[in-house]
Amino acid sequence: MTSIIKVQDLRKTYDDVVAVDGISFEVAEGEIFGMVGPNGAGKTTTIECIEGLRNADSGQMSIFDLDPQHDRSRIAERIGIQLQQSALPARIRVSEALVLFASFYQRQADPQELLKRLGLTEKRSSAYAKLSGGQKQRLFIALALINSPEVVFLDELTTGLDPQARRAMWDLVRDIREQGRTVFLTTHYMEEAERLCDRVAILDHGRIVALDTPEALIRSLGVESRLVFTLPNGSDDLSLQDLPQVSRVETSGDRVVVYGSKEGLASAVLNALEDAGIDFQDLRTEQPNLEDVFLALTGREMRE
Ligand SMILES: Nc1ncnc2c1ncn2[C@@H]1O[C@H](COP(=O)(O)OP(=O)(O)OP(=O)(O)O)[C@@H](O)[C@H]1O
Ligand SMILES: [Mg+2]
Repeated sequence: MTSIIKVQDLRKTYDDVVAVDGISFEVAEGEIFGMVGPNGAGKTTTIECIEGLRNADSGQMSIFDLDPQHDRSRIAERIGIQLQQSALPARIRVSEALVLFASFYQRQADPQELLKRLGLTEKRSSAYAKLSGGQKQRLFIALALINSPEVVFLDELTTGLDPQARRAMWDLVRDIREQGRTVFLTTHYMEEAERLCDRVAILDHGRIVALDTPEALIRSLGVESRLVFTLPNGSDDLSLQDLPQVSRVETSGDRVVVYGSKEGLASAVLNALEDAGIDFQDLRTEQPNLEDVFLALTGREMRE
């Protein structure tokens, strides 16, 4: 694996807030690398240090073997940046924004093609202020791609997008990788990270608490399987808790969630329900997913 981004002991504080607390990782050329973490975990700070938009307090970093702090303009030509917080002048039109941004670079993508890919063709003459939130978001993604970047940074790729646009964005990101380019994204949607990313780093309180492929993260935690069903007639005593395969039973209203080991959970519970003559409906199993891993590693408390 050729690493296109290398980060060693990156540390960044804002006054007394330690935003990034000594993290090290590498991003391989051509991969979709995801960083997830609770609000304030340090994702945006990390990305902005790599992009050269913020100066790190300490640590070594490189992108294309260049130094973000010293080679900022050479790097800027080759990367695409979608900022988490951005704004454009209210009256600039969509196509004008693309032409303007393209003029900053030597290498340029086809603006019409980008508008098409991002579903903005009909909005090309609209003023920025008149776009919906999701359309603005898509425009910023188009702008991040205007120089055909070798590495594109997407901070909260699909926040605010509707389900159609979100899936279209996943396809777009996969296309970028197909072309051999590299994507570094952050997201709060664990399904998105799980489906889209080759590797995911979980950041918490400025530290990497896990980094691997989504499959390996899920496997490593050995998160329990779930069996979900409803009891139309209710039931006072299920006694499922006593089954060796079952670790925990949660009931809310007529909905029951049984947690337990992967092996034999479903059949053990089914047999027990049948034996007790309990009427159940809508039974399904749920496999552990990245969200389970995320919550297990970062807890359930809301962050400041
Ligand atoms: N410009 C700044 N000045 C002071 N503190 C900052 C600044 N930017 C970020 N912070 C603090 O640094 C920490 C990390 O913030 P950062 O924006 O990197 O988190 P994040 O993981 O991107 O969060 P989110 O998911 O909410 O976008 C937070 O505690 C935040 O309050
Ligand atoms: Mg952020």
